Amino acid sequence: MLACGPPPSRSRCNFYSGPWGLELVERTDTTAYLRASGPEHHVLELHASAQNGLHHLGFAAATPQEVDDCAAWVRAEGAQVVEDPRRGDRPGGGYAFRFLDFENRVIEVSAEVFAVPERERSNPVPRKVAHCVLNTVDIDTAVASYTRLLGLRVSDWSEHKMVFLRSNADHHVIAFNQHDWAGPNHVAYEVSSLDAFMRSMGRLKVSGHETSWGPGRHGPGDNAFAYYIDPAGLVPEVTAEVMQIDEETWMPRVWRRTPELSDLFRTAGPPTPRMRKHMGGVADPGWAAVDRAEPRDAGPLLIPMPDVTY
Ligand SMILES: [Fe+2]
Repeated sequence: MLACGPPPSRSRCNFYSGPWGLELVERTDTTAYLRASGPEHHVLELHASAQNGLHHLGFAAATPQEVDDCAAWVRAEGAQVVEDPRRGDRPGGGYAFRFLDFENRVIEVSAEVFAVPERERSNPVPRKVAHCVLNTVDIDTAVASYTRLLGLRVSDWSEHKMVFLRSNADHHVIAFNQHDWAGPNHVAYEVSSLDAFMRSMGRLKVSGHETSWGPGRHGPGDNAFAYYIDPAGLVPEVTAEVMQIDEETWMPRVWRRTPELSDLFRTAGPPTPRMRKHMGGVADPGWAAVDRAEPRDAGPLLIPMPDVTY
């Protein structure tokens, strides 16, 4: 679902398929597909590129009919559909369409993606992507657009700076952060328990990867967090115990942006300037706006199969 990455692509793929705990399932000269432990064919795509950015963000629909209905809806609402619903030939298969959001992000809605058996559960590896946080120049338009086009619901606000949106019982699957430019902020990968969270941190630590922020527990979403910086400079997060929402009773709240509410554990302290810099990233014009399919200097992804065992 997420793409990205200038060189060193090889070290980047090794990071995610090694200590991060994902598993390489397919690859081409320029793209690597990595799965978590859950039933999804892949949760992360790494595309060779001269600049960090979001390739596309994928949402699951229940049936091809829902994909068709969603495509008709977003087109009627004025969004630009860049790929009509079709059964494509991409790894993972499925029936999908793609459209551009108000900041030129490519959004995919898919159904009937290939199933894969769940991985053995003894290792504390990510089971899914929990959420993606995006920087935006217009947080109000982000809320209006994503609630209208995709039916997401607002779970909470962090003052008027961040907004958390859900599509199911998870407190948020996507959040927007008001910023000076659009681009990816971070991607969170969920492990199954607080024990798995700590052991994931331990695996990363002995592999030479220290947290850049965390461990801690956020107020909004109540999730445990530990943020890292990947070899290309993007920010992945390990998370656990994400708050589950009761649709019948939930009322969105506004959180003050104080240290004690940003981290209920009080172990993390505020994010460092380096952390903020990487979460801010660089201005992303959107994958469809730039021909990054064959970057000049990124070179092919030369990806060895993972050789890390736990
Ligand atoms: Fe997060």
